[in-house]
Order: sequence, then C-alpha cells, then structure tokens
Amino acid sequence: IARENKMLVYAHFNLMVCCPAGTDMQKPTNHLENTFSRLGIHISRRAFNQLELFVNSFPGNAYQMNPDYDRFLTLSDAAMCMMYKERMKRSEDTPIKVYYTDRQGVPVAIDITGKEGRIKLTDNSNFFCLGPSGSGKSFHMNSVVRQLWEQETDIVMVDTGNSYEGLCEYVGGKYISYSTERPITMNPFRINPEELNVEKIGFLKNLVLLIWKGPNGDVSKEEDKIVNMVIEEYYEVYFHPENKRFSEEQREDMARSLRIDLRSMEDNPDEIRRKQERIRKFSQVKKRLENIQDRSVLTDSWSEDEMGFSRDDLLNYTPEELCEMEFSQLQDGTIEDTINKMESRRMKLSVEELSFNSFYEYAIQRIPDICKENNIHFALSSFRFMMKDFYKGGTFEKTLNEDFDGTLFDETFIVFEIDSIKDHKILFPLVTLIIMDVFQQKMRLKKKRKALIIEEAWKAIASPLMAEYILYLYKTARKFWASIGVVTQEIQDIVDSPIVKQTIINNSDVIMLLDQSKFKERYGDIKAILGLTDVEVKKIFTINRLDNKEGRSFFREVYIRRGANGDVFGVEEPRECYMTYTTERAEKEALKLYKAQMGCSIQQALEQYCRDWSRSGIDKSLAFAQRVNQEGRVLYLPASNKS
Ligand SMILES: Nc1ncnc2c1ncn2[C@@H]1O[C@H](COP(=O)(O)OP(=O)(O)O)[C@@H](O)[C@H]1O
Ligand SMILES: [Mg+2]
Repeated sequence: IARENKMLVYAHFNLMVCCPAGTDMQKPTNHLENTFSRLGIHISRRAFNQLELFVNSFPGNAYQMNPDYDRFLTLSDAAMCMMYKERMKRSEDTPIKVYYTDRQGVPVAIDITGKEGRIKLTDNSNFFCLGPSGSGKSFHMNSVVRQLWEQETDIVMVDTGNSYEGLCEYVGGKYISYSTERPITMNPFRINPEELNVEKIGFLKNLVLLIWKGPNGDVSKEEDKIVNMVIEEYYEVYFHPENKRFSEEQREDMARSLRIDLRSMEDNPDEIRRKQERIRKFSQVKKRLENIQDRSVLTDSWSEDEMGFSRDDLLNYTPEELCEMEFSQLQDGTIEDTINKMESRRMKLSVEELSFNSFYEYAIQRIPDICKENNIHFALSSFRFMMKDFYKGGTFEKTLNEDFDGTLFDETFIVFEIDSIKDHKILFPLVTLIIMDVFQQKMRLKKKRKALIIEEAWKAIASPLMAEYILYLYKTARKFWASIGVVTQEIQDIVDSPIVKQTIINNSDVIMLLDQSKFKERYGDIKAILGLTDVEVKKIFTINRLDNKEGRSFFREVYIRRGANGDVFGVEEPRECYMTYTTERAEKEALKLYKAQMGCSIQQALEQYCRDWSRSGIDKSLAFAQRVNQEGRVLYLPASNKS
C-alpha cells in the first residue's frame, strides 16, 4: 500500500430501490439480492433509519455510518469503482475564450491561460507544447494564437519553419525574416536611465558573455564579475559623466587592496635587504645623535629631509620601529600615486553614445585597469577577438548597433523567422535573446495581454548561461499579464537539458501534448519530467485514437493540462482556417497561386479557394491543392446542383 501510494478508506455501498406506491418491493429487492450474490456480494437489507442511510451514502460521507451497518475498510480504488466519472465538457465561464471541440465534435470554449476564468486553475499562463514532427503543434498554435489575437492579445513569435506566415499575412501582422542582407538589428545597449536596473545589467552581461564564450561556455566568477563591473561603469560614465572621479569610498577600497598587494612584497629578498640596510643606517645616526648633543655638527652628515624623521623621532623610536614607520609612509605615497594615476586614466575615458561599439571601446580600455586595480587576470585577447565580429567593420557590425525599429512596438502581431541562422552558434542564440528582450520591453510598456511563443528556437537559449535570464523572464511574465510559450518536438531536448526542466517546465502551468505515440517506448522519462499520473498517461494515449471521426472534418487532438486539470480536446477548424495554418508546401502554393492570379486580398483568395474546394467534390485538402497546382490557375468552379 505504501509503495504504490494507495489509500485505505472506509466504504459503505448503499443501494436505493424505489417503486411506485402500491408496488411490491419484494420482487426487485429479491432480484438485486440474487444478482449481487452471483458476483459474490452479499447485500443486507435494512429499512429503518432511512434518512441516516441516505445522507451517509453521499460520496465521502461513509465515515458517519454506524459501524454496525456494514462499514468496511478497503482501498480507495475499490471504493470508487462505482463512481460515475464521465461528464460532458462544458464551455468555461471566462473572459478569454479559446474554442476547441469535445471528443464528440461539440464546440467548447476554455480559458487557455487557466487563470482568467471564474475557476482559477493556474498561477501563471506560460505554456509548454510537446509533440513529434507533423503531429500538429504549429497548426494548434496557429489556432490558439489567432483566437488570442482576436481577443486583444499582442503576439510575438519566434519561428524557424515558416509556420506562421499564413496567419501573419491574414491578420496583417509584421513578418520579419532574418537574412544577411537584412539582418535583425537591435541596439540593446541603448536604454534610458530609468531602465537601468539589476536585470538589465544581468541581461547585457549574459549577452556579452554569450558572444565571448558561446552558449555553453564556461564563465569564471571573476570574468562574470568584471563584465558586470564594466557594464555598470559604462553606464555610469555615460549617464553621470561628471562623476568620473573616484568616490572616497572607492578610494578607500582601492587603497585597502593595494596595501594588501604591497604587504606581500615584504617577503621579497630585495626588500628584506633594503630594510636591513635602513635599520643599520638608523642605528648609526641614532648612536651619533645620542653622543653628540650639538645640532650644528650634524648638518653635513645628516639632514631631516634625507632621513624623513625629526631628531626627536630618531631619539624616541628604535631603528626597527623607524623602519616600519618609514615603510608605511612609503606605501601610502605609492598608493595615493597609483590611485591618482588610475583616476586620470579613467577620466580620459568617455562614452559619447550608447551602442555595442562604444561599449566595446570602453571595455577594451577599461578592463586592463580594472584588472590592475583589483590585481586579477583577465583573458582580454580572447574577449577582444570574439567581440570584434560585432564591432565596427566586423561581420555582424550592424546586429547590435542599429536601433530596433521602434514602430514595431505598436504592431500587435509580429513573427520573427530566423531559420536562416539556425545553425549559427552565436547568432542564433543572440538574436533569440534580443527578441526576448524586445518582448520584455513590450511586456512592461503595453497594458494588454501579451504572448511570446518560441518554436524550436528555444533550444538556442536553453543553455546554462541563459538560465538566469529565462527564469527572470518567466517570473516577470506573470506580473505583466504575459504568457511565454515554448514549442518543441524533441523529447531528448527536455530530458537532457536541466535548464528546460527546471526553468521552463517548472514555470509553465499549462502543458499541451500532441499525439505522443512516437515517444511511447521511452515515455517514462516524459512522464516523470512532466509529473504525469498513470491515469493521465492513459488519457494521453487515447489522443487521435478514438472512433470519433465520423461526420467531422479532419482534426487532430491535443491534451491540455492547466494546473492539475487535464483533458483531451479536438483542434477542428474550418477550411478557411486550415488553409491559413497549413504547413504543407503544395497547399500553401495553391493558395498563393489564387492570390497572385486574382490580385486580391488574402481574405478574398481564401474565400474563392474554399468555394472551389467544396465545389470540386474533392474531400482531401492535399488532393485539391494538387489539382490547383496542376492546372496552374484559379478554377472558378460553377456551383453544381448537388452542392
Ligand atoms: N488540427 C488539425 N486539423 C487539420 N489538419 C491538421 C491539424 N493539425 C495538423 N494538421 C495537418 O498536419 C500538418 C502538419 O502539422 P504541423 O502543425 O505543421 O505539425 P508540427 O508543427 O507538429 O510539425 C498540417 O500542415 C496540417 O495539414
Ligand atoms: Mg511545426
């Protein structure tokens, strides 16, 4: 019982027999007694205390039952075996309605966020969508995103497979694909003083470390700290150019660390020799001073300046003490001097405008000083070598130096298509990261509901370096009425990556699973990671497997879990939507052909296309598209009598 996490409960089964008044109760009662006894169940008959029996037979109420009335201990599974579990799905009472169908094909609207409806199912509305290639992830996402957009939600998508081109065109959104001629450019360094906070600096630090070390690079604590320091100083110099002098506090800090450095010099043989020499000198002079009381005699062999001490000092202290005093004076001088030099170097540095270029210049000059000030080593040449690509004259000189198109903030539907850089080790995560940052800015600026959906590109950011930032983004999404969704097809990716496991899955209260049968062999892993119960897994494997296709158009099913509440829904869309979402090449081409030849809006092309499709009598979408492509023209089929 303990091993399988079962529960012992008291059970009592109570059977009520009702007959019209005047009928003989005996007959049905005997019939029941016989039937049950054939199953090995002996029922006892009681006719007294009916109210008590009735009330106590409410589910969960058996404990009230008088022990004399056949109350018995059993497993909860057995106790529940006669409970009726099935029910009709109903639309939810929610301001945000996303339509699916129930398993019979009846439309039902649910609150996909799980937190906006009357019944709150989730804490956050971030989601995680998993399904093998071709299982309908993008199709489903299209359907969800369209409905969200229609209900006042700003959408930002990052994709690598042109899966949202159709919908983007239909809603008149902005489609931005990355190409070498037209790279996606941003200037993440340009910010207002109000935007400068720990998170922003954290983000820029990650960005710099990403360029320098790559997504899976090892970053030491010192490197992390130095980069952080340089970024802070860079903004300090830009926003407060008048504060370039070191503060008293900074001076004291630096003096302390320089003093420690100088202390370690004391073991140096030269220094030991020098000290012995000084001690000898001090004792000589002291001896002479003690013997000769006449001051004037001394002037030729000794001067106060040369010794650095007054006559009284020399008489009052031992040579060792004098040597020690001299040493610390010397040190203070050196320290003061060093700090002044550092200050004047720092004052020469200035930042004219905020961009990656000016940051690069600042960092390259300032890092060696920071290293000196703090007595640490830093691999400046590797830093420089990696960063140069994004600096003036480098291959990606524009990427981080040109302002992001600010008007994009007013767009309500944006798709970033970055397929062309998906194999680039640095650019791919970098661009994904800056898009996420743009979303983040949007998240703070815009008051309405917002959703960021990252298709396969999320892999680019699933590295230890990004973990902190992703976690932060996921957590803040909740505060700013935003959802972040990640869509993926590879189970290996979730199994392998601790980041995905800890950050993405733990902070996504909504999980969407498409047909999982391809993963069946190794479903244990997924089950454990997503925390699925046996009952859920059984339900999940009924996706697309029920005999419920008759009389319905082609559809696919999806398991949606919001909080602890999971159910299978149908994604069953009309032909116009199908043609907008489809990722089949032939179908996309056929529709494009209609639009091009008709020279009309996508809306009109869709209408004509679907009209022809239904008039053609061809049921399958692909078959009709092939016919269109073959004929190479708009069909303009006449309405037949049948249709
Ligand atoms: N709910 C659905 N209704 C109708 N067709 C669908 C549905 N889901 C998927 N399809 C079909 O399957 C194809 C592949 O789906 P897609 O969403 O691109 O898969 P994935 O993104 O998981 O690789 C689509 O182009 C479409 O033709
Ligand atoms: Mg897809």
